[in-house]
Amino acid sequence: MKNKFFKSLLFRVVLLVIFVGVVPCIVLRIGILKSYESRAVSLRTADIQSQCTILCNQLSTSNYLAEPTSEVINAELTQLSSIYSGRVMIINKELNVVRDTYGLDEGKTIVSQDVIQCSKGESTNQYDNENRYIEVTSPIRELDSDKVLGVMLVSVSTDTIVDTLEILQVRANIVFGTISLLMIVLGCFCALRMMRPLKTLTQSVELVSQGYDQVDFQEHTYTETQLMSEALNKMIARLKVLDESRQEFVSNVSHELKTPLTSMKVLADSLISQENVPVELYEEFMGDIAQEIERENDIINDLLTLVKMDRTSPDLNIKPVDINELLELILKRLRPIAQTKNVEVVFESFRPVMAEIDQVKMTLALSNLVENAIKYNRENGWVHVSLNADHKFFFVKVEDSGCGIPEEEQEHVYERFYRVDKSHSREMGGTGLGLAITRNAVILHRGSITLESKPEEGTTFTVRIPLNYIM
Ligand SMILES: Nc1ncnc2c1ncn2[C@@H]1O[C@H](COP(=O)(O)OP(=O)(O)O)[C@@H](O)[C@H]1O
Ligand SMILES: [Mg+2]
Repeated sequence: MKNKFFKSLLFRVVLLVIFVGVVPCIVLRIGILKSYESRAVSLRTADIQSQCTILCNQLSTSNYLAEPTSEVINAELTQLSSIYSGRVMIINKELNVVRDTYGLDEGKTIVSQDVIQCSKGESTNQYDNENRYIEVTSPIRELDSDKVLGVMLVSVSTDTIVDTLEILQVRANIVFGTISLLMIVLGCFCALRMMRPLKTLTQSVELVSQGYDQVDFQEHTYTETQLMSEALNKMIARLKVLDESRQEFVSNVSHELKTPLTSMKVLADSLISQENVPVELYEEFMGDIAQEIERENDIINDLLTLVKMDRTSPDLNIKPVDINELLELILKRLRPIAQTKNVEVVFESFRPVMAEIDQVKMTLALSNLVENAIKYNRENGWVHVSLNADHKFFFVKVEDSGCGIPEEEQEHVYERFYRVDKSHSREMGGTGLGLAITRNAVILHRGSITLESKPEEGTTFTVRIPLNYIM
């Protein structure tokens, strides 16, 4: 269940919302607060620095370092320190504190890096954000020369900045928190809505397992679901066709198996119902019954062959086989049948061919073609079998001078039990399964079969098989 949720679309959408919505919000919040802080600090520093420069000039004019008693300047220093709630120290050239607005360090020596640097004429400033104060130093110079007389050191608290920052932080948290929450809720809502068509589709598919006569997929909310609906409808149509052909096959099989039985029953019944039947009639009828049994046997054998090849993974016994030899053998076996009709059988080979095939199944396929060419031929006709190959395939062509197959029947001849002329085929001992077996065998070898025919002129079947078996 847990795993299912993490794999669900809903979870993915929430993740997406967090990545494209919530994460930028957090980054924005940190960025804004940081930039506010640095801006406020640098403004405050610049402010103090300019105040210091003004004061330093005054200190220099009034010679305050030598005589730190000027009331006016003392008042100004105190004011400066109180405005910024900070501390101002005036330090002379010997680094002794002349005046400290806190009154703590007067007379003491200050040896800080900044003060020493400033006494060389360079003003400094630094921000200590841990202890929350800004420290600024400014050199006090002699008016007409550039000589440094002392240093003014101001350190002010940044509590007000930090306080503002904290207020901003709280507000930003509220705003961004609300936005994030809204995004997640909205994301979930959208995801749930978006998934509705998928749910409908799933429910419809589940109905298929209970029978698909009534099922019709019509989920057109999105292009994707529309495509999926169309694909599913196609699949259902295909299933229906398969189902129908299966039913038709079963009824055909029953019918075909029943026909010889009916004949046998008629023959047997007529013998039983007559008294004093002459031996000749007995022999004749028994001969007929034996023929019907053989026919039944033929049909069952052909059916078994077909069913074996129909399986999705039939066992093929693939081996390199000399196709010339194979065809010679087939023709040798069938020539006696041809002779009864005085049909001439000719074999023409353009080159020696070795191919990886299942010998038994390929023999069956090619025999059926040659047998048909002989069976459906005229008296004194001919059958022409030829073998050729290129670098990938070998081709077997079976041409005859027979009755031909009408155009509209051509696409059906591979169907099980299909015969153009039923009675003629039966007379010839056909089961109507020969071409179905041939085509199955050819397909198992990843090959193809085509036919060309002109009624009353003849028929040509062409089989194309890869030289190397493709798994
Ligand atoms: N070479 C051919 N010439 C004319 N008709 C043919 C030929 N091969 C097959 N057919 C027709 O196709 C039908 C199906 O052939 P097949 O599956 O071998 O069954 P059958 O057992 O009748 O031979 C045959 O009944 C016949 O009408
Ligand atoms: Mg046949």
